Amino acid sequence: MAKERILFTPEEIDKKVSELADEIAADYKGKELAILGVLKGCFFFLADLIRELRERGVAVTIDFVKMKTDEEAVGESSKKIIIFDTEFDIRGKDVLVVEDILDTGVTLNYLLNHLKEEGPGTIRVCVLLDKPFKRKVDLSPDYVGFEIPDKYVFGYGLDYQERLRELPYIAYFDE
Ligand code: IMP
Ligand code: MG
Repeated sequence: MAKERILFTPEEIDKKVSELADEIAADYKGKELAILGVLKGCFFFLADLIRELRERGVAVTIDFVKMKTDEEAVGESSKKIIIFDTEFDIRGKDVLVVEDILDTGVTLNYLLNHLKEEGPGTIRVCVLLDKPFKRKVDLSPDYVGFEIPDKYVFGYGLDYQERLRELPYIAYFDE
């Protein structure tokens, strides 16, 4: 039987989100950030982060995108399509893309290329978790919570076969 191992407790996550808010606020204090969350996994993280940002004097507007792998892209198994696009007007704005986890980077890279065509003022990336080992594209996020080993993790918004997103901690199953 696979055993659940806790990687980060709610307290550790809270502390890290505060630290990330400190870093972001140092760059954007007194400004307004256009935050773009990548569904579904970002919802816990984004909700906690924006409240910390508000305490630090950073105002936000928020929208979401959702992407999936294009199953019909023969021979290009990692091709992504945006299935839930945003009407967010990012032209000239300071944009912060918020993702739960960065793995190969294919998803985020696709999104960033798409967003850059819409003429944002500045665009930066904040990820809670980074698995740098399987990166396929040249992408390094501006704000990173935890660098983690190459394990499949779940909880705090991240799913295990669409379940367990509601866990208040981040965990993995030991094989
Ligand atoms: P990438 O395109 O390989 O960087 O994959 C990024 C997306 O895959 C993330 O936004 C997650 O939705 C999902 N993902 C990657 N690793 C994990 C994991 O360990 N747990 C849950 N979802 C993951
Ligand atoms: Mg994601």
